[in-house]
Amino acid sequence: MRDLRPRLHITPCSGWLNDPNGLCRIDGTWHVFHQFNPVGPTWGPPRWAHLTSQDLVHWTEQPTALAPEGVGPDAGGIWSGCVVDDHGTPTAVYTGVEATADGGWTQTVCLATSDRSLLTWTRDPANPVIAGPLDPAAIGFRDPWVFPDGDGWTMLIGTGVDPDGGKVALFHGPDLRSWTFQGYLLERAATETEPTWTGRMWECPQLARSNGTDILVWSVWDDQRQVGQRVPAELHYPVVATGRVVDGAYRVDTLQRLDHGADCYAPAFLVDGDRIIVWGWSWESLTEAGRTEQGWAGALTFPRVLWATPDGELRQAPAAELRALRGVPATHGPTDLGAGGVRSACDGQAVEVFLRARPRDGRVHLDVLADPDGRERTRISYDAATHELAVDCSRASRWSEAIGGRQAGRLDLGASGALELTVLVDVSIVEVFAGQRLVFTDRVYPTLEASTGIVVSGEGAALLDELTVWPLD
Ligand code: FRU
Repeated sequence: MRDLRPRLHITPCSGWLNDPNGLCRIDGTWHVFHQFNPVGPTWGPPRWAHLTSQDLVHWTEQPTALAPEGVGPDAGGIWSGCVVDDHGTPTAVYTGVEATADGGWTQTVCLATSDRSLLTWTRDPANPVIAGPLDPAAIGFRDPWVFPDGDGWTMLIGTGVDPDGGKVALFHGPDLRSWTFQGYLLERAATETEPTWTGRMWECPQLARSNGTDILVWSVWDDQRQVGQRVPAELHYPVVATGRVVDGAYRVDTLQRLDHGADCYAPAFLVDGDRIIVWGWSWESLTEAGRTEQGWAGALTFPRVLWATPDGELRQAPAAELRALRGVPATHGPTDLGAGGVRSACDGQAVEVFLRARPRDGRVHLDVLADPDGRERTRISYDAATHELAVDCSRASRWSEAIGGRQAGRLDLGASGALELTVLVDVSIVEVFAGQRLVFTDRVYPTLEASTGIVVSGEGAALLDELTVWPLD
């Protein structure tokens, strides 16, 4: 079996990685923590693994920050949370869990503090600072997201209650140790499906303001509607709302999926000045046998930036720092795609692709990780008739354990009629940014050494304006 580990993304050597946690920049150093089970490529009592970076691109592994020790309110796992700078003291605010007799988990809010290196963590004697949900019927109560608010702090917690649906619980405190429940920032019925279904329970709520819009992101958990072979099957997708917080309630203007791919979940924010940097967790799109064979599971997406335009429209783009990975590009200029496809002079397992094309009344296809004989390819297509942008992974891999599948979303090209795609490819992860509006994260597992090609083709009167491919290293 080929080594299909992404080279430029954060992945574990072995074991299981899930949610990004505690993202912060302290004294100029970037810190990423993530949920990690060292025992095997399957979810298990998580600890917080830690990495640091000076440039947001190259990461150094650090010792484990916090691990369950079998005692106290986090005896059974250090689940997701955040890190804030509490008047000079970096403080992790996390979910502490203990296994319950009925196979569930207590879920509490705990704190740990460090000096400014973030390398040595001490649990707070006051733990837990919130002992659990106020509603005894809560399905879950986890993933505190905390930000400074006036003289004190605001905390959001993901929760949900049957039959109501998912909710974001809102707390306020003068300090990080004394919290008062303020009600629900947002709740939504699990039966609502338009514009998108949001399930019975919400995980990892994140909130930040951009250009006067309050952007609220969370992830949809529902074990009554499970997805195919992929594990964990009760985790669905992240959603994003635009709107405004007014008197402790979130008024929604728009609601949509944050990522339209099959393989992004639990995105977390790092608010750095006026930039919202987002990392997501990309699980493996593999059967259990495939994961066992691979021996490790999970990657963090590349950091991306999320913002609202002054008129409240959402945009996403790869973080500008990633340009440091680019080598010498190959560019192809205007081509009538009706006369045949274009194969980039630059190919590879790790590339950035920029494509500008006018599908007119036809279709444009961009294949990445494509072998010359058409046996493997990941195909990104735009269809002008249906306004649909699709990422088709059904022929991405000849490995029987790869799940594959096709994801799609609607994208209007506007008056210019131009499709602009930025695609980041790193061995087994493909991140697609379509017009900064539609984003897809998908895992693909090309098995052939020759599956490195980048090919643009068209149907109908489609025109290529530009294809630029950079090798990434
Ligand atoms: C999301 C999640 C979080 C929880 C963590 C446990 O993937 O379920 O809600 O804190 O993973 O690993």
